[in-house]
Amino acid sequence: MISKKMQKALNKQVNAEMYSAYLYLAMSAYFDGQGLKGCAHWMRLQYDEEMVHGFKLYDFVLERGGIVTLEAIAKPEPVLESTLGVFKEVLEHERKVTGMINELVGLAMDEKDFATNSFLQWFVDEQVEEEASAEEIVQQLTMVGDSKNGLFLIDRQLGERQPGGSAESEA
Ligand code: FEO
Repeated sequence: MISKKMQKALNKQVNAEMYSAYLYLAMSAYFDGQGLKGCAHWMRLQYDEEMVHGFKLYDFVLERGGIVTLEAIAKPEPVLESTLGVFKEVLEHERKVTGMINELVGLAMDEKDFATNSFLQWFVDEQVEEEASAEEIVQQLTMVGDSKNGLFLIDRQLGERQPGGSAESEA
């Protein structure tokens, strides 16, 4: 059984993960419209991953005898002005999510809720990868600057991302 406080916090995180999915879907649509099919593909897989994250939390709440409460998912409003800008926003967003996960871990520790703490460690590790891959893409885009050739190559590379793929293509 989980405490009401922990249940509320986990439900909030379900919503945050589903919002992340929605945010990345908006970015995917933008890239598609820009003809950047690789970036669109990468974001679409990112959408899938965030939904998996949301469902992991959802299933855990149920497994622990808790109640899942679904709230409205906020409208995603990413600033869609440049490829680099969008990936910088991904990085910023992932850092924010890391903060949320850390807060959850802190709460589990305060409550001596060892099961939830153990469950959350998967998310702690996942966030390290999420930030690292977004950071890598930001670095690459920064490196190529205004080069259309460079962007073409990065787009192609991001288009090779596989579902649940390697760390470098995952976020
Ligand atoms: Fe579920 Fe990208 O954090």
